[in-house]
Amino acid sequence: MKPLNILTVVGARPQFIKAAAVTRSLSSAGHKEYIIHTGQHYDADMSETFFKELNLPAPDVNLGIGSGSHCQQTGQILLEIEHFIINQNPDCMLVYGDTNSTLAVALAAAKLNVAVVHVEAGLRSFNKKMPEEINRILTDHVSSFLFCPSQIAVKNLKREGVIKNVYLVGDVMYDSVMQNVDLAERNSRIIEKLKLKPKSYSLATIHRAENTDDPRRLKSIFSAFEILAKDGIKIIIPLHPRTKKAIRTFNISLMNLHVINPVSYLDMLNLEKNARVILTDSGGVQKEAYWFGIPSITLRDETEWVETVESGWNVLAGCDALRIVSVFKSLEPGQPVSCKLNDGLSAERIVNILSNKIKS
Ligand code: UD1
Ligand code: UDP
Repeated sequence: MKPLNILTVVGARPQFIKAAAVTRSLSSAGHKEYIIHTGQHYDADMSETFFKELNLPAPDVNLGIGSGSHCQQTGQILLEIEHFIINQNPDCMLVYGDTNSTLAVALAAAKLNVAVVHVEAGLRSFNKKMPEEINRILTDHVSSFLFCPSQIAVKNLKREGVIKNVYLVGDVMYDSVMQNVDLAERNSRIIEKLKLKPKSYSLATIHRAENTDDPRRLKSIFSAFEILAKDGIKIIIPLHPRTKKAIRTFNISLMNLHVINPVSYLDMLNLEKNARVILTDSGGVQKEAYWFGIPSITLRDETEWVETVESGWNVLAGCDALRIVSVFKSLEPGQPVSCKLNDGLSAERIVNILSNKIKS
């Protein structure tokens, strides 16, 4: 078998984590990978830390796109990526998730007749006001290989008439958790550093545009945190830079909360594993809470990860302060979680399929 020439593009925090698992498998199979970072995330604690900690090879190129409006960001990546695709002439382009980087690169590759491989295909929130929903739908519809993390994702694609080269492979983020959870236990000092006792604190993350860009929603979520804090619940919040800016703009009080900078992946795994409850609007954090068997509250009106809600371990609470507090106080997850779909071998499945289906 001739090695494949793969062009991978990443740009945002969760993509570094997803790519780490797949890159490891690509390298074991002897394929050649050229990694481009769009530069969508650029702070050291949103980007570089993850490359180092996850042993992800440093990107061959960083496009340095940075922040901007949706059209600016998407359009600039589209412009910048074209000549790299032409020069590299890859057997396929590998993209992850649902960010502006994902869509821009998928569109560029499809227009240049390069096969797009979408990892984490088929997710839907059915809310087209979310930028991620537009990114996912369009990326899926220009992709040549669609790797789904769940049966529900496969069904979503079928409903839209996408059935060719759709593979249920499980979740590569679960692979990453499996590969790093012991390492986190051994190497992360975050629990000691923050002087936390296991199960004595709750962990919260907020960064979704629907929450951060709407002062009513953001104020309501933070007032729920304040109410819980005043009731004696310690809430640790590794704050996304987007939320940090919004909090300043809307003058939101953080008086009783333990706000910290974004943490590294190993620190985050340890914080999650030892938390009593997790409150979040993050896709990745919802799943990790579920895999660790930590009850979670999703601060959104819908989720793509419906399995976590159906199991009773994740409750959709939206942004209403009193509802969040009441859900927090009445959380009663049922049976222990079991991860039928995930076995830590999703990345290997993806690489095996690509090795067999794409001829270089
Ligand atoms: C993006 C993705 C979202 C994903 C999230 C992961 C889109 C539309 N959204 O959202 O799906 O869940 O990444 O975290 O692609 N900023 C910094 N430093 C950084 C990065 C961002 O200060 O290193 C600030 C900037 O003010 C920027 C804002 O955060 O404008 C938002 O960043 P952006 O990448 O546009 O979107 P995210 O909210 O991070
Ligand atoms: N994460 C992290 N440090 C943090 C917050 C999150 O390492 O301070 C990890 C988290 O464990 C998960 C991923 O980042 O693996 C989720 O990314 P994010 O919430 O930014 O995006 P989403 O999953 O919502 O797209």
